[in-house]
Amino acid sequence: MAIPKVFITRRLPEKCIKPLQQVAEVKMWSEEYKPVPREVLLQEVQTSHGLLTMLSDRVDETLLAQAPQLKCVANLAVGYDNIDLEACRLHHVIPCNTPDVLTETTADLVFALLMASGRRLIEANDYLKQGKWQEWGPFLMAGADIHHKTIGIVGMGRIGTAVARRAQGFAMNVIYHNRRRNVEAESELGARFCGFESLLETADFVVNLIPYTETTKGLFNQNAFTKMKKTALFINAGRGATVDEDALYQALLEGEIAGAGLDVFSQEPIPKEHPLLTLEQVVALPHIGSASVETRKQMISLCCKNLMRTLAGEKPITPIET
Ligand code: DGY
Repeated sequence: MAIPKVFITRRLPEKCIKPLQQVAEVKMWSEEYKPVPREVLLQEVQTSHGLLTMLSDRVDETLLAQAPQLKCVANLAVGYDNIDLEACRLHHVIPCNTPDVLTETTADLVFALLMASGRRLIEANDYLKQGKWQEWGPFLMAGADIHHKTIGIVGMGRIGTAVARRAQGFAMNVIYHNRRRNVEAESELGARFCGFESLLETADFVVNLIPYTETTKGLFNQNAFTKMKKTALFINAGRGATVDEDALYQALLEGEIAGAGLDVFSQEPIPKEHPLLTLEQVVALPHIGSASVETRKQMISLCCKNLMRTLAGEKPITPIET
């Protein structure tokens, strides 16, 4: 093959993509914070052998049908609900993601979100900075304890297990629900497998880490929130569309649950006017689960390695296997 072409859908640091530039002609969308327009992407794929995509780029049949030379799509995320895997199979395109390198960083963020929600950190910070702190009071910004409470993790893969490890350090009781039993988490961390409903009824902190699929769509619905304790906090770092956000809003408004810490939303970026953002018992973050500088560099490097291997006719390090 003549020198292969790779298109990167966001501006990334030149230093991080240097190895890729040595083996391919690399073109990059010029903006860091604005996604590449769909028409530009559809144009670029026509001559590309590799794509480095963000979770906001849709890789579907329409795109793949216009990409006769495409061999690999390297997605800068562990989640891949933006990629049509069946269409990739039909077009002989290898999809890759970035598992492992982001596990601990994402687990840190999940736990930070849990703590910020439980101990009302963002609310307290705003209260102080807005000059509202006039007197100390015994219940001023009093939140919920985290230590010795029950954490219920829905989606006990790598990140779930890393969250459970952190919870163990806080002497929490760890219960989980997952498609398959996680033997490692059970034997090493004392995590206990639970039915979904039983987890909802028992947990003080319900942590959602499940990916978005046809089966998980809207799993956290009105029924689910009604089952949770009125003091429960709901943490979502999985995917937004696994939650019925109208039901979540109503549950928070009506005191069915006490609060929520959200890093992901059905629509991203979530509009500023969204009802969920009007609630002080909601901590909301702009999908920054894996956003540490070190980890983002490792994710980019892994994407480049996956592309380089595939373009050289070798097996990538982390192809998406379902
Ligand atoms: C992912 O990589 O899928 C995570 O959502 C990033 O935070």
